[in-house]
Amino acid sequence: MEKESYLDKLRGKDKIRILFVCLGNICRSPAAHGIMDKFVKETGEENRFELDSAGLYGGHAGELPDHRMRVHARRRGYELTHRSRPVKMSDFDDFDLIVAMDNSNYDRLRGFAPTLEAEEKIVRMIDFVKGFPGYDYVPDPYYEGAEGFELVLDLLEDGCRNMLETLA
Ligand code: 4NP
Repeated sequence: MEKESYLDKLRGKDKIRILFVCLGNICRSPAAHGIMDKFVKETGEENRFELDSAGLYGGHAGELPDHRMRVHARRRGYELTHRSRPVKMSDFDDFDLIVAMDNSNYDRLRGFAPTLEAEEKIVRMIDFVKGFPGYDYVPDPYYEGAEGFELVLDLLEDGCRNMLETLA
C-alpha cells in the first residue's frame, strides 16, 4: 500500500490523531468519523486515537450530518453527532493522518498542505478499502438515493476496519 513507511511510523505512536475530510462534512467524513469512533471503542483503544472530521466547503458549518446519512448510519448502530466545520490550516499540525474521501478532496488538501511533512499525512480513504475493487474513491451520496448512502457506509466500514488494523 502507498504511504507504507509513514503508516509504519504512526503505528509506533502512543496517540494517533485522525481527521476525515470530504466536501461538505455532512455525509461521508462524519460517517467515517462515527464508524471509526465505534470501532476504536469496540477494540478498547479509545485512549490511543483522537478523531475528528472536516469539510473543504464551509457552507454547512455548524450543522449535524445530513438527515439521510444519520438515518442510514443509525440502522447500523452509528450515532452521528458531529457538527460540520471547515478544514483549517492548523489541522495540518494537529493531526497525524488526514483522510480524503475522493480525489478532488485529496488534490485540494495537498494543495493546501504548508510543508512536505504535512503533505505526507494526506491519504485516500479508498486505499484502505479491500472488498470493493471497482471503486477508486468514496462517491458523494448527496445527490443519490438510499443506495448511495448504503454504498458509502459499506465502503467506510471496510476502510475503517482495515485502517484500524494497519495502525493497531
Ligand atoms: P459530503 O457530501 O462531502 O460527503 O459531506 C456533500 C454535502 C454537501 C454538499 C456537497 C457534498 N454541498 O455541495 O452542499
